[in-house]
Amino acid sequence: MSRNLIIILITCSVILIAATFFTDRTSSAAPGSEIAKLPENHWSQPLKSQGPPPQEWSELEQSLHPESCAQCHEEKYNEWKTSLHAQAFSPGFVGQIMTYTTERANNCMECHAPLAEQKQDFEAAGKQGEFHIPTAQGLAAVGNSCAGCHIRENKRFGPPKRDSGATGQSDTDNPHGGVFRTVDFEKSDFCASCHQFPQEYAINGKPLENTVFEWQASPQAAQGISCQNCHMPDRKHLWRGIHDPDMVKSGLTAEYDVKTNKARFTLTNTGVGHAFPSYITPKVIMQAVALDQQGQPKPETARSYIINREVGYAGGRWLEYSDTRLLPDESATLEIDWGDNDRIRMWLEIYPDEYYEKEVYTDLVKEYSPGSPEQALIQKALDAAQASNFILFDTTLEKPE
Ligand code: HEC
Ligand code: HEC
Ligand code: HEC
Ligand code: HEC
Ligand code: HEC
Repeated sequence: MSRNLIIILITCSVILIAATFFTDRTSSAAPGSEIAKLPENHWSQPLKSQGPPPQEWSELEQSLHPESCAQCHEEKYNEWKTSLHAQAFSPGFVGQIMTYTTERANNCMECHAPLAEQKQDFEAAGKQGEFHIPTAQGLAAVGNSCAGCHIRENKRFGPPKRDSGATGQSDTDNPHGGVFRTVDFEKSDFCASCHQFPQEYAINGKPLENTVFEWQASPQAAQGISCQNCHMPDRKHLWRGIHDPDMVKSGLTAEYDVKTNKARFTLTNTGVGHAFPSYITPKVIMQAVALDQQGQPKPETARSYIINREVGYAGGRWLEYSDTRLLPDESATLEIDWGDNDRIRMWLEIYPDEYYEKEVYTDLVKEYSPGSPEQALIQKALDAAQASNFILFDTTLEKPE
């Protein structure tokens, strides 16, 4: 049930998004900035085919493949390769879309492998019965890659030149005809076409993925801190998020307060520029338990507090059951009585892929026929989701005298 919701919402959303964000921004652009603007249709989905590249370009310049970019932009390639954008054509993704019609699969690909050329290659793999084989998927396999963000009609687009801040078209005699540089690459709107679903599909007023609106309301946005500032520091192409313990830690402050009758664990969103967590898929649990003389947990004393957003289908409509996510500067508190115990352990559990694991993959593994390629992919995704869980702020407190 809930899986279908995501599919419907996501599929319907795609066309509308570019319109909402890019129209707004263009009309409010500062005087003069129209000189070096990203074309309005940069993120109009579905992306159009690049068309034939200039004949005089070398094979390397003509290629849309990230491995080709790597020949001249090695550092960016090495960073991107470790990111989830490079893994967006994942087993959990392919294991689902290979069972869809082409039209529906293409809708999903608008955020996971957005180039027209990627859709063509994936369709071609399917015609050979090789949807599930990465080497047969061609350009589709590279997921959300360099060309998806930087190339339209074979033309390169990028941010202002690093040292001079120059914008506009560089010398077209340079490799791949130079580059068109624009401040639009430095703005949060650049991420919106894939990280913000439209208001039309909101549940209890909030779209399932509402990251850009959450950011707009944040103190960080008021200070001019963009998505790129936190997720691409020094323009690094790493995009660390909920799957990365250090990144998650960087956004939170954990405090412990020891009173004679109670111990308290307070968690505050001090550095996440949107809700923690932003999406409906992760689940976070604050945990506390008293320890016995041997240091073993005493289960009857355990306390926990869940931080996430839960939606579901009941009585013929979609409902939000709870939303305990922490907006910027918000805190959650967990208290536990000392009783006659001397030590209490407190920690934070992070389940980055909880929703996919419990609501999507577990069902699909049973639904799909045993031994089929799609079942093997979903099994792989289920294993990876389970392996992605981690613990932060693990602390043992001593009872005060
Ligand atoms: C043959 C070497 C070569 C290849 C291959 C190449 N580039 Fe470039 N790229 C350059 C050079 C040189 C510049 C600087 C151009 C300029 O300043 O006019 C550049 C600039 C850029 C910029 C702007 C960077 C900045 O400093 O602002 C982007 C973005 C870019 N390339 C993307 C790509 C992508 C994406 C690919 C692969 C599809 C690619 N390039 C393949 C050589 C290459
Ligand atoms: C073409 C669509 C697209 C664009 C544009 C895009 N993203 Fe993403 N992003 C995705 C997809 C899809 C994933 C999930 C990949 C996966 O795990 O399969 C993702 C994952 C991420 C993650 C990791 C989330 C996690 O679970 O840890 C971060 C962080 C992120 N993106 C930030 C950004 C930022 C910042 C921008 C703008 C500079 C941006 N993205 C632009 C599609 C996009
Ligand atoms: C509007 C953009 C968008 C569309 C369209 C979209 N996704 Fe995603 N998807 C994302 C983003 C962004 C993430 C990462 C969420 C996060 O961590 O914040 C993601 C994550 C996922 C993941 C978990 C990460 C992984 O790759 O294993 C799966 C599975 C997935 N999407 C499947 C689908 C399917 C199936 C469809 C089509 C029904 C679809 N997506 C359509 C943006 C999109
Ligand atoms: C999800 C979108 C996205 C993807 C995928 C992506 N980039 Fe970028 N890239 C950006 C953005 C946004 C910036 C500007 C960041 C900023 O200004 O903070 C940028 C900046 C750059 C720059 C300029 C760096 C500098 O130091 O001035 C180069 C070069 C570049 N990208 C190359 C690549 C290459 C090569 C790949 C693939 C290996 C790639 N990009 C993948 C969005 C993307
Ligand atoms: C002030 C720093 C900061 C800003 C600004 C920021 N983020 Fe994040 N983001 C984080 C931190 C820290 C995490 C890890 C904790 C978490 O998952 O909430 C994160 C997590 C994420 C995730 C993982 C999924 C999830 O459910 O949390 C995505 C996707 C993401 N950010 C996208 C964006 C986009 C898109 C923007 C701009 C609209 C943005 N972020 C702005 C710091 C920031």
